[in-house]
Amino acid sequence: MIDVKRWVLIPAAGVGSRMQSDIPKQYLQLNDRYLIDHTIERCLTHPGIDGCYVALSADDAYWADSEFSDHPDLVRVEGGSQRADSVLNALNALSSCANDHDWVLVHDAARPCVRRDDIAKLIIAAEKHDMAAILGVPVHDTMKRVDPNECIQSTVSRDQLWHAYTPQMARLGVLRDALMRTSATEVVVTDEASALEAMGVPVQMVEGHPDNIKVTRPGDLALASFYLNQQSS
Ligand code: C5P
Repeated sequence: MIDVKRWVLIPAAGVGSRMQSDIPKQYLQLNDRYLIDHTIERCLTHPGIDGCYVALSADDAYWADSEFSDHPDLVRVEGGSQRADSVLNALNALSSCANDHDWVLVHDAARPCVRRDDIAKLIIAAEKHDMAAILGVPVHDTMKRVDPNECIQSTVSRDQLWHAYTPQMARLGVLRDALMRTSATEVVVTDEASALEAMGVPVQMVEGHPDNIKVTRPGDLALASFYLNQQSS
């Protein structure tokens, strides 16, 4: 029987322009640490995870000061121009020492509040059905489609509509092939599931906790801080 491992890949090569900060958002201070250090700790110290790859921009001037920059179970790779390129670089690097049958969990650096229980829930769901799976939460608000002038065109049914979160989990070989193939097409790949969907690979939605927010805008930092405090109390 082959020993199947689980790896976390953390794309962290973005600039986070919507944060309106000179510092990339993953290096903003959140409860006295780099934001990315919260994210890495939750993934790397998870009992279900064997190792971790982090994709950083080539000119990253902050990583050396991360708590995890010298961690033996963490490998640094160079990111790409799009999130999908960063993930593919990490998958290619991982492929030289891992099996195509291994599982990978891709998790945004910008989601520092991911709960260990939710990571475990995702792993159990994917492995139980031997199927790619992602964390998400159902949409509760009424959804509108608007025109370029932000005038409402229609109401979009929220039935069966979910927010896609991370981690997103798939077999290493399956995800690498999907991202390689979609990179040669016009398909817009904003997460791993979109590449898998484009290849006809089934992906299961697993309900996670809504506090697994992606820090995107300035106000999100205070919210992430609140969630971290709430989780530890
Ligand atoms: O920009 P956004 O918040 O959607 O990015 C999601 C994650 O992807 C972030 O952790 C960001 O650092 C990462 N990313 C990346 N390479 C890029 C763009 C984004 O690793 N070229």
